[in-house]
Amino acid sequence: MRIAETADELARGVADALAKRVAQTLQQQRAFSLVLAGGNTPRALYRLLAKEYRQQIDWGRVHLFWGDERYVPHDHPASNFRMTYETLIAPLNIPPEKIHPMPTDVTNPYDAACLYEQELRTFFGGIPRFDLVLLGMGADGHTASLFPGAATLKERERWVAVGEAPVEPRVRLTLTLPVLNAAQAVYFLVTGADKAETVRRVLMEDTPLPAALVLPEQGELVWWLDKEAAGGI
Ligand code: 6PG
Repeated sequence: MRIAETADELARGVADALAKRVAQTLQQQRAFSLVLAGGNTPRALYRLLAKEYRQQIDWGRVHLFWGDERYVPHDHPASNFRMTYETLIAPLNIPPEKIHPMPTDVTNPYDAACLYEQELRTFFGGIPRFDLVLLGMGADGHTASLFPGAATLKERERWVAVGEAPVEPRVRLTLTLPVLNAAQAVYFLVTGADKAETVRRVLMEDTPLPAALVLPEQGELVWWLDKEAAGGI
């Protein structure tokens, strides 16, 4: 657990940790696979990375993936791809061959999930072992698009599932727990007092909320919290 005074300080802490992790990993392998989180919390991180970490990170060797996506066109205001494109990808001018968005342009989202699984299989050659997965958490304890009580929480074979959110856009694509838990590292980024009670339930009571089920088998798990989100622990 890392607790920062403010959300901006949290973004800087994550950016520094990411830069260190990328540098270490690229000494051992040719590419770094990074899963981006959606929602609002990571915007500050992405903007900071684009603004101040252009040199500190070898972006030419970083491949970007998504932990989940709303099943809307990539130029839709609710698209996680659009948010990450605007805050990180366009400012850093990351080339298309390094970007692996979840497809949302086929009629059937189940086909899209299969297509993304194929993309992961092609990139990893087997079960995806992402070097770092960034995740957020909703006040209900969901993470990525794995919502409380969802059947997708029991998925043990598929790497990408179709989820249903309680809010629009309801149809989602999401990485499943087997993939999240195979990662070399998972960073949760959670800010705001509205999540403090859920953070407490997840971290202090092991309540089986989706976010509590993300326990990398061999990887590092770090909860990056601002003081407000850590208010209950
Ligand atoms: C999404 C995210 C979702 C998000 C949480 C927290 O597509 O919305 O993947 O899991 O991380 O809902 O969202 P905020 O950061 O906006 O609070």
